[in-house]
Amino acid sequence: MPDYPEIPRHIAIIMDGNGRWAKERGLPRLQGHRAGAESVREVMEACIELGVEYLTLYAFSSENWNRPATEVSALMNLLDRFLDEKAKDLDRQNVRLLAIGQLDRLPAKTRALIERIQARTAGHTAMTLVLALSYGSREEIVTAARTLASDAVAGKISPSQIDNEVFASRLQTAGIPDPDLLVRTSGEMRISNFLLWQISYAEIVIVKKFWPDFRQGDLFEAVTEYKRRHRRFGAL
Ligand code: FPP
Repeated sequence: MPDYPEIPRHIAIIMDGNGRWAKERGLPRLQGHRAGAESVREVMEACIELGVEYLTLYAFSSENWNRPATEVSALMNLLDRFLDEKAKDLDRQNVRLLAIGQLDRLPAKTRALIERIQARTAGHTAMTLVLALSYGSREEIVTAARTLASDAVAGKISPSQIDNEVFASRLQTAGIPDPDLLVRTSGEMRISNFLLWQISYAEIVIVKKFWPDFRQGDLFEAVTEYKRRHRRFGAL
């Protein structure tokens, strides 16, 4: 049975509500995403302070490609700017960057930026920031199943050898511990195709605020709630 650490080793966040935050203020949606990028900075600081080892952010889902082209390109520009500005901070904060998702669908410029920062921060040890970009959990699971099936057909693995551990090693999160705590903002109670396999035992905390209003104190509160709960993994 896994441990129940005092501080979650891995926090995953569905950052929801940028658009509604902007609408409430009569602002364009992009302003909501910009304000959301500020929350990302705050939450990263809070996680480093707490000693969280992994922070995974759902920054762009595979379904988000269906949004209007202007919003998609604005989000990509915002991401580029965030990465560009963050590169130095990640060094200062000793944070490693990883990206998961169908990265080949991202603009070449964004992909190059990510690759450069991943390589540059590979040795950092204070925390790992995992950005889920063009990410969809079903796609990830299907890809893992497909590679295992190919390996089985090629005689590299026998079907009887495929267990939870082997399967997890074919996911994009291979080597990353499962999230202990999943936070979703804006009060919605959905998982939205995010880390379906990995959150099997995660505590889920739903916060009513929109993501741009989410501050360090809200993260600390979510961790307090996590600590309060007794996790039993289905056992008595
Ligand atoms: C959800 O709000 C948020 C997103 C689709 C994108 C998340 C992006 C950011 C927080 C900003 C940039 C991120 C990084 C890592 C710099 P929504 O648009 O779905 O809001 P709504 O449900 O109110 O419309």
